[in-house]
Amino acid sequence: MKTLVVDHPLVAHKLTALRDVRTDSPTFRRLADELVTLLAYEATRDVRVTDVTVETPLVTARGVRLTRPAPLVVPILRAGLGMLDGMTRILPTAEVGFLGMIRDESTLKAQTYATRLPEDLSGRQCYVLDPMLATGGTLAAAVRFLFDRGAQDVTAICLLAAPEGIAHMDETFRGTGKPIRVVTAALDERLNEQGYIVPGLGDAGDRLYGVV
Ligand code: URA
Repeated sequence: MKTLVVDHPLVAHKLTALRDVRTDSPTFRRLADELVTLLAYEATRDVRVTDVTVETPLVTARGVRLTRPAPLVVPILRAGLGMLDGMTRILPTAEVGFLGMIRDESTLKAQTYATRLPEDLSGRQCYVLDPMLATGGTLAAAVRFLFDRGAQDVTAICLLAAPEGIAHMDETFRGTGKPIRVVTAALDERLNEQGYIVPGLGDAGDRLYGVV
């Protein structure tokens, strides 16, 4: 598994504002959206393209277009939804599948409660949106789900990651030969006893959508 921490002053600036406890929900949503677009730019560096020609007003030139079938974007409900618009802004032809997963707060294990995905993902490039890579349980389950359906490769885009989550992903997929990448704005220090990322930004779902 490859991990990419996107090192860019705009990413760091937006992430700092997201961390700030005084940032209200509307501002948090807007900043998360902007940050995802910046991360998506890096995350799609290996997106498959096909050579084409294009008629400019002057000549025929060489260019590329995204290879079909289009990539699949999979936000993990609920908090991943806050990353969807930022992702599809730069990948408008992507299809979107949904995976509802919730972390059992006592066991910290992931449970799937909803799926809306193509049965066959053979040859598909998949982008999973999950803002907080904490224990890694949810993301590992989501990535396994996509590979079980035949995904060609999976890139996870996370606003923040904890070392424990990266290690869990590494251990889960080590030796499988599966092409997996995690793209994140920062690798934080640790998880606390409640499974929150420290310094982190709190509960991403609550900060996006309120405590419901
Ligand atoms: N999920 C969150 O929303 N925040 C964390 O810090 C960890 C998991």
